[in-house]
Amino acid sequence: MTTDGHTVPRTGNGFIDVTHAALMDRVGTIRRACAKGVPRHVVVPHFDAFVDEMHAHFDHEEVIIRAAGFHRWEEHANQHAMLEQQLVRLVDYVRECDVTGDFLCTVAGTLDAALCRHEIRHDGEYAALVRSASAAPDGPDLIRWDSRYELGIAPLDAQHRQLADCLNELHRASLGHAPEADVAALLEQMHDHAQAHFAMEEGVLRSVAPSRFVAHRAHHQALNAQFARVRQAVESGGLDAGVAARDFLRFWLTDHLLGSDRVAFAGGTVTRQ
Ligand SMILES: [Fe+2]
Ligand SMILES: [Fe+2]
Ligand SMILES: [Fe+2]
Ligand SMILES: [Fe+2]
Repeated sequence: MTTDGHTVPRTGNGFIDVTHAALMDRVGTIRRACAKGVPRHVVVPHFDAFVDEMHAHFDHEEVIIRAAGFHRWEEHANQHAMLEQQLVRLVDYVRECDVTGDFLCTVAGTLDAALCRHEIRHDGEYAALVRSASAAPDGPDLIRWDSRYELGIAPLDAQHRQLADCLNELHRASLGHAPEADVAALLEQMHDHAQAHFAMEEGVLRSVAPSRFVAHRAHHQALNAQFARVRQAVESGGLDAGVAARDFLRFWLTDHLLGSDRVAFAGGTVTRQ
């Protein structure tokens, strides 16, 4: 529930719902501080945190809806980009200019209204699809390996399978209420495997399809930042490990396997090993 009384509907994906709630909490904090007349230099860090959290949310949400098969994901990403541009401009203005308390309240209300409008109207368009894609799996594994996931390059396929095994182990650990230290160790292991995999894959791509290397390396850097942020949220107690695994990391990994890698290696002159 927002400070204007709007309710952001649940999407059925726990990760998205948790981040929507956190963004609404942040906006609520900003609005209450502005209404109380808290000085600008005290409120500005909250505006900056809002921008950072909104950017991460949009980034993560795009991974989930693309992997879930929402065919209008690019249109949705464009809506994110436009909204972010508008709100970042407002926050930049508040940070750089000596504005009045009334103006701060107006900007806070604008962030609230614009974000809610997006989450209620536009996020509702993918909700049914994402809800069904986020359902708990039938068996113990989040990703059941099959030939769909194979690139046909043995060392890379082995690493992809290892990442899927790590994810499944994290999922089982969360179902079994494993101790925090065990969850942290699994996240560290998966992160290490992912970084080693990205490095090896970039080496292969540089030799077989050099024109795609730079863009794919940038994509890996984005994936690494997403993983690091989610890992940090779990380790700090701000995000449940099961929600992270089931409702974000499985989409993160399938988007990597069936989306970006398939495109990057399509048509490359790779010898099957
Ligand atoms: Fe959203
Ligand atoms: Fe969205
Ligand atoms: Fe890749
Ligand atoms: Fe890969």
